Amino acid sequence: MLEPREIVEHVGRALGTDAAYGGRRVLVTAGPTREAIDPVRYVGNRSSGRMGYAVAQAAWRRGADVTLVSGPSSLEPPVGVDLVRVQSAEEMLEAVKGTIGEADLTVFAAAVADFRPLAAEAEKVKRESVGDAVDFTLSANPDIAAGTRDLRKSGAVTVGFALETSDVIENAKKKLEKKGFDFLVANDVTEEGAGFDVETNRVTVLAPGADPEALPLMSKHAVGEEILDRAARLLGASG
Ligand code: CTP
Repeated sequence: MLEPREIVEHVGRALGTDAAYGGRRVLVTAGPTREAIDPVRYVGNRSSGRMGYAVAQAAWRRGADVTLVSGPSSLEPPVGVDLVRVQSAEEMLEAVKGTIGEADLTVFAAAVADFRPLAAEAEKVKRESVGDAVDFTLSANPDIAAGTRDLRKSGAVTVGFALETSDVIENAKKKLEKKGFDFLVANDVTEEGAGFDVETNRVTVLAPGADPEALPLMSKHAVGEEILDRAARLLGASG
């Protein structure tokens, strides 16, 4: 039997199909990644996955076929969405590689750990073996958005996020260009109502050749709908 939440989503999809999304494929990355230190410890971050899950659910409700590649998250899986669970950045990269070629829209909402321990220990590291100072080497993780640029379907729309704590616009502009996004949603995680573990977000939208557009404080669901509205206009333009 369907749960009430599922019924609501199915009714929403039946009534809310958006011509821009019917029959379209949407790929979303979400959540943190976990990079193993040993079998019980990891390097990670505070992302909950809320923003990406909200985009995925809203895209499905609009009629799209949605794949959500998610790092560890305690959120309920969005109804109707093909959820691919991963742990590490390398696993997320492999999952994205396998789907991005068919996606009409990709939204990179994951907070990917930029570094991972050079090698995960097979056994739990014992306190006595490390002494007072723990010194382990980190190596850079792949950039999933930039590294899969050549695999994007022709005419596809690609959206990124930028998580900043200072010089938000300047840093976000660099990411927009380097990662080849059609537009980017920037947020300052130090601002009240934005960032991790909250239901709201205060974002600025950046697009090539346009002035940054600061949006008011809104729920992550509303930010998700805003992203889909903007992407729909670009999808329409690309046919
Ligand atoms: N991203 C990604 N793969 C990574 C890092 C980031 O795909 N290894 C994506 C994120 O999902 C987001 C965008 O790139 O859409 C920017 O992520 P962010 O964490 O803000 O920036 P970084 O590239 O990690 O740069 P920095 O940590 O130096 O700010």
